[in-house]
Amino acid sequence: MVTLVLLPGIMRHVPAEKRLALFEMIEGRFAVQARISTVVAGLTGFYMTHELGAWYRFTDPGFWWMHAMVAVWAIFTVVLYVAEPLFLHRWFHERASHDPEGTFGLVQRMHVLLLTVSLVTVGASVLGAHGAI
Ligand code: HEM
Repeated sequence: MVTLVLLPGIMRHVPAEKRLALFEMIEGRFAVQARISTVVAGLTGFYMTHELGAWYRFTDPGFWWMHAMVAVWAIFTVVLYVAEPLFLHRWFHERASHDPEGTFGLVQRMHVLLLTVSLVTVGASVLGAHGAI
């Protein structure tokens, strides 16, 4: 949603000097939802691993999609719970105040990268969980 609708929409239709205020107003609600989803994904993922007795998979490179799930989850956890409150939010606010064009472009590219990695992981995990890879 943020990657495919919010960021491109703001970049296309909102003048550079008004982007930051609008983005920060809307983004807050997505941040809450993203934080909750990340905790749920972690709890359910590790619970399933425990119930399936599937910890051994982490020693087998053939189960790379299990590693990918944990890696994606870890990236979201670190970004949302550590980097954002510690420095990322401040860094974004300051950089976007001076260079909205460049900062929104960079943030959009990072979101596209993360979305791509997440979608590849979801696809591989569905195939992996059903024995197709
Ligand atoms: C944002 C992160 C994550 C995403 C996007 C994700 C996605 C998925 C998907 C798409 C499936 C396949 C469901 C199916 O088709 O039956 C799956 C299954 C599974 N996930 Fe994740 N997951 C994530 C995090 C985690 C974490 C942190 C763990 C912990 C180790 C985990 C453990 C598992 C397990 C054990 C299964 C079942 C595999 C099986 O049935 O053999 N996931 N996940």
